[in-house]
Parts: sequence; C-alpha cells; structure tokens
Amino acid sequence: MAGKGNKQATWGGRYRKGPSPLMVQFSESVSFDRELARYDIQGSTAHARMLAHVGLISADERDAIVAGLTSILERIEAGRFEWKIESEDVHMNIEQVLRDEVPAGAKLHTARSRNDQVATDMRLFLREACALVMTDLEALMLVLVDLAENNAHILLPGYTHLQRAQPVSAAHHLLAWVEMFARDRKRFAQVADEVNVCPLGSGAIAGSTLPIDREFVARELDFVDAEGRPRITQNSMDAVADRDGYIDFAHACALCGVHMSRVAEDVILWNSAEFSFVELPDEYTTGSSLMPQKKNPDSMELVRGKSARLQGNLHALYAMVKGLPLTYNRDLQEDKPPVFDSLRQTRACLQVLAGALGGACLNGVRCAEAVADPALLATDLADYLVKQGVPFRDAHHIVGAMVAMAEDKATPLDRLRDEDLKALHPALESGQWREVFDLSRAMAARDRPGMPGPAQVQTRITAWREELSRQG
Ligand code: ARG
Repeated sequence: MAGKGNKQATWGGRYRKGPSPLMVQFSESVSFDRELARYDIQGSTAHARMLAHVGLISADERDAIVAGLTSILERIEAGRFEWKIESEDVHMNIEQVLRDEVPAGAKLHTARSRNDQVATDMRLFLREACALVMTDLEALMLVLVDLAENNAHILLPGYTHLQRAQPVSAAHHLLAWVEMFARDRKRFAQVADEVNVCPLGSGAIAGSTLPIDREFVARELDFVDAEGRPRITQNSMDAVADRDGYIDFAHACALCGVHMSRVAEDVILWNSAEFSFVELPDEYTTGSSLMPQKKNPDSMELVRGKSARLQGNLHALYAMVKGLPLTYNRDLQEDKPPVFDSLRQTRACLQVLAGALGGACLNGVRCAEAVADPALLATDLADYLVKQGVPFRDAHHIVGAMVAMAEDKATPLDRLRDEDLKALHPALESGQWREVFDLSRAMAARDRPGMPGPAQVQTRITAWREELSRQG
C-alpha cells in the first residue's frame, strides 16, 4: 500500500507516511503538464548554467547536469521516457530521473522552487504558442487574400440584419475577415511580448538567500528586450502568483474564436441552397448517415462550436484566479489544461478554415442573381438626388416613396415610369437617375479608403500581400 511508509521522494523529508493512492491519483498533473517538458528542460539547463556561473556548482557538475537533461529530453521526444504519477508533475519526474542518473542532479534545485519553475515554463510555452498561432493566422489570411483576388470580379449583396443592404465585392467581404484576423495576429504578438519576462529567481515566494544571477538566466532563455537587455520580473510574490499571461492568451484565442465563428456562420449561410454563393470542397464537408443527398458544412459548424469551448477556457481561468490569496495555491495546477486546449483548438480551427476556404468555389452566377436587385442601389439614388441639391433627409423620403411605388406596381425600382415620378421631385423628371443602377459604375464610385470600389479593394489586396510576405 503506497500510503504506508513510502515517502514522497522530492518533498517527503518531514513525512512519516506517503500520500494515499487516491491522493496520488488526484494530485498528479504529469498526465497533462508533460507538455511542458521541453520548456522545463530549457529552464533547468539555463538555471544550471547560472548556478555554475555564480559558483554554486562546479563546471563539471553543470556539464553533467546539462548532459543528463539533454539525454532525458531525447528520451521524452522519442517516447521512451517513463512518466510516473508518483512523481506528481513534469518538474519532479524530470528531476527525479536526473538525480537517479547524475549525482550532481541533486544540486539542480538550488535556489529554485517549482513555483518559479512552472511560471518560467509557462512563459516559454506561451511565447512559442503565440508564434505558432500567428503562423497559422498568416496562412489563413493568405488563403483569404488569394480567394479575394481570384474572385475580384464577383459582386454580391452585403447584409445588415441579414437583409440585403448594398452591393459589395466578394473580395471586400473576404478582406473584412482578413482585417479581423490581422487584429488577432497583433493581439497574439502583444501577449508574446507581455509574457517575455523571466520570473526565475523568485523562488517559492521570497527569492533566495543564495547569490544567484537572475539576469544571466533571463539572457540564457532569451527573455530580452529589442536591445537584448534582460527582462526580469520585479516582485517575487507577484511573479509566482501571476497568471495574466495565461488569461491574455486564452482571451486572444477566445476572440480569435469569435472571429472564426462569424466567418463560419457566413460560410454556412452562403453554402446553403437558399444562398448558394459558395460551394465547400468535399474534403471539408461530411454526409448524412440517412439522407444520401446531403453535403453538410460540418467543418464550419465545428469551428462555430469550438469557439464556445475557447470562451469556456477563458472563463475557467478567470474563475480560478479571482478568489486566490497571494501567492501560489495548488488550484493553479488546474490552469494548464484550458491553456493547452485553447492552443490546440485555435490552431486546429485556423488550419481547417484555411483548408476549407482554400478549396472553396464562389458561385458567380448565383451571386450575380442576388446582387442584381436594383433596390440594393436605393441609397445610390438618394445620393444622386443629393447631388441635385436635395437635402438627404428629403431624398431618403423620396426614394422611400419610389420603393413603395415599385412594390405596389410589382416593378423593379429602376423601371418606374417617368410620368409616375414627376409628382415626387423635379430632379427625377429627366430620367437620368436611372444611371445609378449601373452596377459597375456604382461600385467604381465607392473609391475612397476602406470602401468596396475595385481600385480600393485591389490596393488592399496588394497591401496585404506585402505585409504577409514581410511576416512570412
Ligand atoms: N504541478 C504544480 C503546478 O502545476 C507545480 C507547482 C507546485 N508547487 C507547489 N507548491 N506545490 O502548479
């Protein structure tokens, strides 16, 4: 029975009995925090180098420790490392095996606690996680820019309230998504910068009495500013209690999830028989077990569903931290699964979106049919009247009356007869107003920054290409 006698190898000094088997199961985190192994070994290697640098261990001891850690990492990456729940977490699993294999390993934990160790591991993890998500974001943005450029000639209705509003180019709609993802990319870059500060040396809560060199470790781990100066945390209590980076990261993922979900929703609508603006590739749709004709946009629905999960992860972290007294509390062991999950799910969604949209086909015929409704240019007609000197509010009313008339007579707006309009406003007499219903003219007129005119859209496509090739 593990509960009797069998003392915990790392912290068991003051214990007469080891933890009960139930407690061993309950308190282990190695089943999930082994994801941190690479960062833990990176941190330990830097720490060992620092201990030698300040003379707390010899150069030989340092070399033995570093070689031991390197060999452990090789075994972990090859799947040949035996993880033990009795050793609780990733940190103690690695340290335990190191101590079994390298006598100097017993000196590695000098002037260090698992509290500053895990804080360091997670900052290293988050920094890399942000870079990975940013790469996936850039790949998706490039897919969207390609799709926009290849379909630059297609116009479709833009919607407000899910009612046809005004014509836009498909490219302008796709580039609206690119804007959303560009904000996400910026947000992840900010998170990466926030976490890029070294907490090692904070110890459990109050640092150490030993003569450690915190800046040395920070430099070793590349926790440096743009000028290469080390960045280290300035309060040992905050450093081990702080989980802001985790929350910032989960927030960046959750908001990116919201953006992905809105894209997915547009695509689901567009892919329906009612719209038929787009067809998704077979590879990213699935069939029905009953209805042979079905081709369902499950990839998009899953993206929409997973965005809820990303919000849940953020909320879990908020709730976990909110009532905690300073500093470290074991509750915080539960902070890792939501972070790991957010990374995995965000990346998966971004990659699936890129795959599905990369193979998507816009249906030019259906888009043209939908955008042909002249009522979509009712606002352009009001603008025409404004150019004739009619105050906008009056113009709005006049065109509103024309829309009502067209509805009553069941004729398209641009086919109303001149004699029926005379009474409405003299500016309508000449019949010249019909020119506004030339769609390509209407689009070309939208030619100021941020607008959907073809020249503006092309400018944006070029700008995105430039920016994305600079990043990539
Ligand atoms: N496995 C622990 C965690 O993830 C490491 C820190 C443990 N510290 C402690 N004081 N028990 O939070």
